[in-house]
This record gives sequence, C-alpha cells and structure tokens, in this order.
Amino acid sequence: MSTFLHQRQQQHLLANPYPISPGSAGGPQRSLSPFGRTGLFVLLSLMVVLGILFPWMRVSESLFSLSDASISKWRDYTLAEAVSFVAKNGTVIVCAVSQPYIPFLNNWLISIARQKHQEKVLVIAEDYATLYKVNQKWPGHAVLIPPAPDAQTAHKFGSQGFFNFTSRRPRHLLQILDLGYNVMYNDVDMVWMADPFPYLQGYHDVYFTDDMAAVKPLNHSHELPAPGKKGRTYICSCMIFLHPTGGAKEVLKKWIEELQDQPWSKRKRSNDQPAFNWALNKTAGQVDLYLLPQVAFPSGGLYFKNQTWVQETKGMHVIVHNNYITGFDKKIKRFHDFGLWLVDDHSLESPLGRL
Ligand SMILES: *[C@@H]1O[C@H](CO)[C@@H](O)[C@H](O)[C@H]1NC(C)=O
Ligand SMILES: *[C@@H]1O[C@H](CO)[C@@H](O)[C@H](O)[C@H]1NC(C)=O
Ligand SMILES: *[C@@H]1O[C@H](CO)[C@@H](O)[C@H](O)[C@H]1NC(C)=O
Ligand SMILES: *[C@@H]1O[C@H](CO)[C@@H](O)[C@H](O)[C@H]1NC(C)=O
Ligand SMILES: *[C@@H]1O[C@H](CO)[C@@H](O)[C@H](O)[C@H]1NC(C)=O
Repeated sequence: MSTFLHQRQQQHLLANPYPISPGSAGGPQRSLSPFGRTGLFVLLSLMVVLGILFPWMRVSESLFSLSDASISKWRDYTLAEAVSFVAKNGTVIVCAVSQPYIPFLNNWLISIARQKHQEKVLVIAEDYATLYKVNQKWPGHAVLIPPAPDAQTAHKFGSQGFFNFTSRRPRHLLQILDLGYNVMYNDVDMVWMADPFPYLQGYHDVYFTDDMAAVKPLNHSHELPAPGKKGRTYICSCMIFLHPTGGAKEVLKKWIEELQDQPWSKRKRSNDQPAFNWALNKTAGQVDLYLLPQVAFPSGGLYFKNQTWVQETKGMHVIVHNNYITGFDKKIKRFHDFGLWLVDDHSLESPLGRL
C-alpha cells in the first residue's frame, strides 16, 4: 500500500512541474483599496511575508500530488466552509477516512445514498490523497483538518498511530458543534439498511449504540447501561449523533481530556473507545444521554455471529457495524458473505462512482 502511494505521488510530480496556482496570492491584496500610509506599510509587510512564505509554499506543495490548479483550492478548504456547504437542515453526517479505507467509504456511501441522505455527508480526509480523490469525484464533500496524521503509521488497529488517528475524532466533532450544527459520526465499516434519522427522537444531547454482543430485550432502557467487567460501559464510538448543546460539548471535552490522561501504551493497545466510555460515565449526571435500540443498531458481534437473532429481528436493522473482526480482507470477505459488499455491483449508486 505504501509503495503504491509513493508511486502515485511520483507520477503527479512528473506530470505537473508548476504546482503553484497563479491566483493563490491574490486574496489579501484586494482588501487594501483605501491606499493611505497604513495601506502602503501593510503592502510592504505583505511583500516581505510573501517573500518568506513563497519558497516555503513551493516546497510543501511539491510534496503533495497536485495534478492541476483546481485541486490546490481543496488544501485551503476549511471545516467551516465544508460544513456550511454540505449541511442540510443544520445537520451533517461525517466520517474520518484515510486512503486504505476508501473502498469502505464507497460501500458506506452507497448504503447512505439508498436512504437519500448522501448530500449531507462530509468526509474528513486524514491524508491529502483522500482529500483530493474525494473532492475530484464529488466536489466539496471532503475536508482535511490540519495537521494530517502520519499516513504510514495510522492504519493498524491497536497501534499508536491508530490511536493518534482516532484521537482526532472528538476534536473534529467538537469543532462542528461549535459551528452550530447537528452531527452524526459513523465509522465507514458500517452499512445503512434503513434511515436512522427517525430513531433520533426527542432532543437529547448525545445518541449512541451499545457495542455488546449479548442479546437484550426489545424494550431495553435508553439510559446509559450499567458498567461491565472493566468498570466501564461498552458504548461504541462508531456511531454517535450530537446536537450542538452544552451537554454534548461537555461529553466531547471530557472525551478529549480522557484521551490525554490515558495515552496509548504498548500494554493496553487501546483505541479511543474506552476514553469515550469514561467521558460518558463522568458526565452522565449532567448530560442527557440516549442509548439507541440494539435491534436497530446491532454490533458486529451480534449481527454477524447470531443468525437466529438476525432471523428473529428481520426488517428491524438500521445500521450494521462490521466490527468484532480485524483486518481489511476479513472485513471485506464478511461483508461479501452477508451480501453487504455493495461496491462491486452497485458502484454507480455511489456519489464517488467506481474507484
Ligand atoms: C428538513 O426538515 C424538514 C422538516 O423537518 C423535512 O421535511 C425535510 O425533508 C428535511 N430535509 C432534508 C434534506 O433532510
Ligand atoms: C502519536 O502521538 C504522539 C503524541 O503526540 C507522538 O509522540 C507519536 O510520535 C505519535 N505516534 C505515531 C505512530 O503517530
Ligand atoms: C420490558 O417488557 C417486560 C415484559 O413485558 C417488562 O417486564 C419490563 O419491565 C420491560 N422493560 C422496560 C425497560 O420497559
Ligand atoms: C461510573 O463508573 C463507576 C466505576 O466503574 C461506577 O461505579 C459508576 O456507577 C459509573 N457511573 C455511571 C453513571 O455509569
Ligand atoms: C442468539 O440469539 C437468540 C435469539 O435472540 C438468543 O436466544 C441466544 O441467546 C443468542 N445466542 C448468543 C450466543 O448470544
């Protein structure tokens, strides 16, 4: 995978010897129309700054595979711009994706397009290759929140790179809430089978799903469940819906704090999920939490491992998560086996098309 990435970048560099877009320095000068002494001074300072920045920009830009000038604008596309572009009814659906996960992204998008919610999807690209690829096929639907994590180390489940990568999630979500939007976060190894929005009833601060595999009664409570063996709950950080309320922001801030207090260690090989659960535990008293129904949002440990249950609850599933398994190939095979790998035969339904 990394060799592949490297080759692609080489090709783009060769194909494009002049990677700087000609318009990139035009913006700031336009605002200096009343040309007094101050204006002149500002202009001079600007020239000095540009003199320093330009050589630097040339180097940093040539590192990335900018194959044409239109692409370079995505590098400066901000989260605020992106969210206001994709949001519908004040709501966005986000995921965070690095290049190896693009096939999963496409699979997830097809399932969302079938529920007619794809227009509010914003892909948070965790590397520049993903940013350019998605925006090339589907302009405006990907944003990169700098700094991009190190692509070579971010993919292996349980690694420190993976921890660093997932640690960015609560920050991204908090920024979106601060901009005033409702946000749904999904991992891209999920598939929508029905529209989840009717399940986001009431106006609670945070909605989430249980990651346990044990079958619960259909009428289980919507409260935060009791802690399990490790003293904490097993709520999934894979699917979260938040309203832009003080309570929801409190949970995200606590989640960020918990990640800082319990950094990755070789022994624990953790991801961001335990920290999310501690954040829920510590804010439970002050925040309005809502556990979504298991039958609609089953974990992979239930959906893919208990066919009796799947038959019994046929027609009631809304979003299925392909977890309780690790490795790209195993995940893809399992989606295949269960008829949920849509990219082979249905790629035309994806806003990204065939990739
Ligand atoms: C926005 O909300 C209105 C009223 O709730 C609903 O009828 C409409 O379908 C929604 N539009 C989208 C794009 O979700
Ligand atoms: C993860 O983040 C820590 C702290 O910011 C940093 O020291 C470390 O080098 C990063 N590791 C990887 C593999 O990205
Ligand atoms: C679920 O239904 C059972 C049987 O009708 C009942 O005993 C139980 O109290 C209900 N649980 C909840 C949380 O409503
Ligand atoms: C939080 O975790 C502690 C320690 O496991 C537990 O005693 C407590 O009941 C939990 N609180 C909630 C609201 O789940
Ligand atoms: C599988 O589902 C059935 C039907 O809901 C349930 O009775 C059984 O306990 C489940 N098996 C396991 C191993 O959880």
